[in-house]
Amino acid sequence: MSKIKTAFFCQNCGYESTKWVGKCPSCQQWNTFVEELVQKEKGNGKSDWNAFNGDTSPKKTMQLAEVIAQEQPRIISGDAELNRVLGGGIVPGSIVLIAGEPGIGKSTLFLQIGLQLKNTKTLYISGEESEQQIKMRADRIKASNENFYLLTETSTQTIFAEIKKLKPQLLIVDSVQTLQSNFIDSSPGSVSQIRECAAEFQQFAKETNIPVFLIGHITKEGSIAGPKILEHMVDTVLQFEGDRHYAYRILRTLKNRFGSTAELGIYQMNDDGMHAVTNPSEILITQKEDALSGIAIAATIEGQRPLLIEVQALVTQSVYGTPQRTVSGFDLRRLQLLLAVLEKRGGFHFGVKDVFLNIAGGLKVEDPSIDLAVLSALLSSFEDVAIPHNICFAGEVGLSGEIRAVNRIEQRIAEAQKLGFEKIIVSKYNQKGLAKQRYQIEVITMGRVEEVYRHLF
Ligand code: TYD
Ligand code: MG
Repeated sequence: MSKIKTAFFCQNCGYESTKWVGKCPSCQQWNTFVEELVQKEKGNGKSDWNAFNGDTSPKKTMQLAEVIAQEQPRIISGDAELNRVLGGGIVPGSIVLIAGEPGIGKSTLFLQIGLQLKNTKTLYISGEESEQQIKMRADRIKASNENFYLLTETSTQTIFAEIKKLKPQLLIVDSVQTLQSNFIDSSPGSVSQIRECAAEFQQFAKETNIPVFLIGHITKEGSIAGPKILEHMVDTVLQFEGDRHYAYRILRTLKNRFGSTAELGIYQMNDDGMHAVTNPSEILITQKEDALSGIAIAATIEGQRPLLIEVQALVTQSVYGTPQRTVSGFDLRRLQLLLAVLEKRGGFHFGVKDVFLNIAGGLKVEDPSIDLAVLSALLSSFEDVAIPHNICFAGEVGLSGEIRAVNRIEQRIAEAQKLGFEKIIVSKYNQKGLAKQRYQIEVITMGRVEEVYRHLF
């Protein structure tokens, strides 16, 4: 007689509990537990993949020295941005999770990448779209490939049966939320189902040395169970982000067992698919001709690449008692901190002003070196005086109003010079070992925010 086995899963972090609890002991969220059926046939303890692969011999311990290192060449995709983000191509046997909001362009990008791999037999498994829809999309990005195969299926059992027949060299699964394993009774997209299916693909990738890309949806907060709970199971986590109203998309590495996590790829979504952006700084700086107040250019480093970004600020008289602070692409608390620094160190009364801050192009910037540009944009809008368009900034602002040094300053200066800026304001703590005379651009070093103010206005 079979007994139905259920468990409760936190929909936020995937924590498993035998009974319902109000507050998750792991992530401290309230009311996130949902009962799910878990009926893994314990008798043989196998997964769908095992069922097809047959039993492998039991593993035994071995000396590390005994292990024969097989350096298998990486698969170099036709997409230079992806290769870079992965640390130099696709590693055989690796499992890569691509997380992103719905509609951001995950399916488009990976269909495109699959179609570009002319010499690799690629299987694209879609549980979301029909063959017709995928064909239409492929027509739209104007690509075709003899070595590219499609399978619209959600059951992992059927998927592995097809894989056995086809013997692909690369697998793309779109999306992990639609997969369904026969060994788990709960519905697709539930925590237990996602975890089981991902585990099957992980085992598959390790045993066959075939790389697997798993696409997963996340919400704006990035919290809904699913991709988050898989992060520790996969080798690489890529986040695909961007504002849907803008054309730019960023592919960021959050975790990478085979490369650096500081990498980043920039794409532009066009009518005919995704295009790598090779000169991002030039596109992100819009108005160079008109002198407008509230605009400052920051020389940031995103990933390994220097990137010049336009910061726009608007400071207006507040109508209501509580002034508003609205940001897009920047951390709100960081803005509040910078305003407090200006209030305290410079005597600017932002307490009676509404402040709006925007990073151009819909980008999200994490590099703290953008502080100085944010501060300058705020001051420029506050004074309603435009900052000359030939100046850019790179510096972090400390709590006492000091301008702190930032890393890789040479790279930032070189990029600013390349784009035709005439002055760059950096921290005076950066000048050690900096050969200013080497650059055509004038490098101005400053120690405090007051000096920046005096220089600009
Ligand atoms: P999609 O790849 O379906 O997103 P996801 O898989 O992340 O949910 O992309 C959806 C959007 O992309 C859709 O709004 C249409 C747009 N799009 C383009 O702008 N250009 C194109 O060439 C294609 C194929 C889609
Ligand atoms: Mg999709």
